[in-house]
Amino acid sequence: MIDLIQKYVEAYGPSAYEDAIREMIIADVTPLADDVSVDALGNVIAKVKGKKNGQRVMLIAHMDEIGVMISHIDKNGFCRFMRIGGVNPQTLIGHRVRFTNGVMGVIGVDDPRSQRLPKYDDLFIDVGANSPEDCPVSIGDTAGFVRPMAQLNEHRIIAKSMDDRIGCVVLLETLKALKKPQNDVIFVFSVQEEVGTRGAGPAAFHTKPDVVIAVDVTATGDTPKGFPMDMDLGKGPAIKVRDGGMLADPRLVRLMRDQALAAELPYQMEILPFGTTDARATQVTRGGIPSGCLSIPCRYIHTPSEMIDLRDVQNGIALLTKVVSEKIELK
Ligand code: CO
Ligand code: ZN
Repeated sequence: MIDLIQKYVEAYGPSAYEDAIREMIIADVTPLADDVSVDALGNVIAKVKGKKNGQRVMLIAHMDEIGVMISHIDKNGFCRFMRIGGVNPQTLIGHRVRFTNGVMGVIGVDDPRSQRLPKYDDLFIDVGANSPEDCPVSIGDTAGFVRPMAQLNEHRIIAKSMDDRIGCVVLLETLKALKKPQNDVIFVFSVQEEVGTRGAGPAAFHTKPDVVIAVDVTATGDTPKGFPMDMDLGKGPAIKVRDGGMLADPRLVRLMRDQALAAELPYQMEILPFGTTDARATQVTRGGIPSGCLSIPCRYIHTPSEMIDLRDVQNGIALLTKVVSEKIELK
């Protein structure tokens, strides 16, 4: 699984520019699913048929990652940029970016002596150019961050874009583990989550699931002086109760918790005061679709080194496989 995680986290794919990661996912799901398609926005939809009279369950994880976009090139060839998704400017100085066309650049700051935290207007990308004429990128070009994955010990790994490539890994591993599920399972690898969960709503509208479980990362409260949140790395995948954008369907929360208890899998309950996931968009499409989320605890979200614990990933796959394989009754 480590090799798969590395392949996915190191792949390029800022929101709306998911082509490279999408091709990898299509290649990986095609031998395993009954039907694979790509919709008009670029969401990958892989379906597995279940037994008669089961539910239609959608599992959804987003393929896109945060990034930046060129907004201005000055007379000396330095590029000003906007962010794609929630990129914190504090994490950026000295960081490397790679554009869709393969060009590399480094992020610099106007006044390196300043003690003040940088704002976007203080930052630029240097691609080694001297003028707009010899600059190898153009206004509107998009870049992702560059950082190889590293395994710190048996359980913990750091990489860019664990958010949400680790969710894509959980979906793929669940797809591999499925044997004759009770329910039809629709695996969606979505686009444009980081800019406002834009791919998920259309995917759910189109495929008409009865129930949706998103798989994404959640913050933790276990770092020194971390903000108060009952969430620790390595203590189990999290069943979302609420986040900044939604209240998970209480019947689905109960079902997921009951299945974790029945399988004696560790789990945590997630109360996240900010942020949201694709489950928010699926909950409010059509006539409303019961939606919830299984979250992988993650430190340093939206930085170049997001940390997860492999045990949470493995237990998440086990729980999700059980939930979608057995009878689903929301009550
Ligand atoms: Co994110
Ligand atoms: Zn995410």
